[in-house]
Amino acid sequence: MGQSFSANSAGDPLVPDWSAVTLPDAWPDRLDYSSPGQIARLVFSAARSRRPLVDLPADLPGGNAIPRYILQEFHNLPNGNYSKSITRGYVTWFDRVMLGSMQRARTAVAQRLGHLDSILDIGCAGGHMAQAVLDAGASDVWGLDPSPYLLQHAAARYPRVKFVQGIAEDTGFRDGRFDAVTACFVMHEIPPRYLDASLAELRRVIRPGGVLAVIEPSPEQITEPLSRLLLRHGWRGLYFGLLARRMHEPFVRAWQQQHVASKLAEFGFRLDEDRDELPIRQILATRLADD
Ligand SMILES: C[S@@+](CC[C@H](N)C(=O)[O-])C[C@H]1O[C@@H](n2cnc3c(N)ncnc32)[C@H](O)[C@@H]1O
Repeated sequence: MGQSFSANSAGDPLVPDWSAVTLPDAWPDRLDYSSPGQIARLVFSAARSRRPLVDLPADLPGGNAIPRYILQEFHNLPNGNYSKSITRGYVTWFDRVMLGSMQRARTAVAQRLGHLDSILDIGCAGGHMAQAVLDAGASDVWGLDPSPYLLQHAAARYPRVKFVQGIAEDTGFRDGRFDAVTACFVMHEIPPRYLDASLAELRRVIRPGGVLAVIEPSPEQITEPLSRLLLRHGWRGLYFGLLARRMHEPFVRAWQQQHVASKLAEFGFRLDEDRDELPIRQILATRLADD
């Protein structure tokens, strides 16, 4: 992961020139998109309910350090976040499928953090959250994600953000390095055991008094019956309820069962805000000083 690149003198991981990194083709990249049979393979792969683990190309940079739990076909994406072609579509289509709500939530959170300088966005995917905090005024902005395919797309689109490969539970940064960490639609992809390790690591890299900002799907999309979502929120409620039920999210229920205030307190954070407006839940917490 981050360790595959040497550290700079400030102790930060070195930022690769992603435009010069050659990534291996994964199986969706090797399909012939003019062949009906191969398109059918892709459609079948996206539609099936039992989902295999991602098939990582053997020579993927940092591939050996990616924990197995991450290698899921989240959101029914063929080979998950690990191909050039599917991730290219994902970084654009995710926001469209969410009907603009992601962009609005990222901007709202970014405006709360824009007075801060150094911000790490974990699970940055296409880099939209990192760019939002940069646009809001932060100047030292990093994006971290285990998938080099996503990082390559992010770096091409947002050249002022520093993108590095890594995971929330082992970021590769020094203690107290950041004023804030953002995590947009990431926590529900991390199973409970690794969630604890991630929160411990985020506490380590956020300075005392710094902020942890989390954006997550509204729990009611899954916990409430579709009829109630329709009554409460109209067609948007129905749409997001159906979407949440259709997406492969193996750890989302475990995340939603967490008592967020207690979990944050366990890792030395104070919950300041927990706002839920379908389809987005927004959580802000302060990293408390060490005793
Ligand atoms: C739903 S996407 C996030 C979208 C993105 N933050 C945005 O605002 O559009 C979840 C991301 O979390 C990443 N991820 C999953 N497990 C992770 C972990 N343990 N540490 C860091 N990133 C992780 C995935 O690679 C994926 O890019």
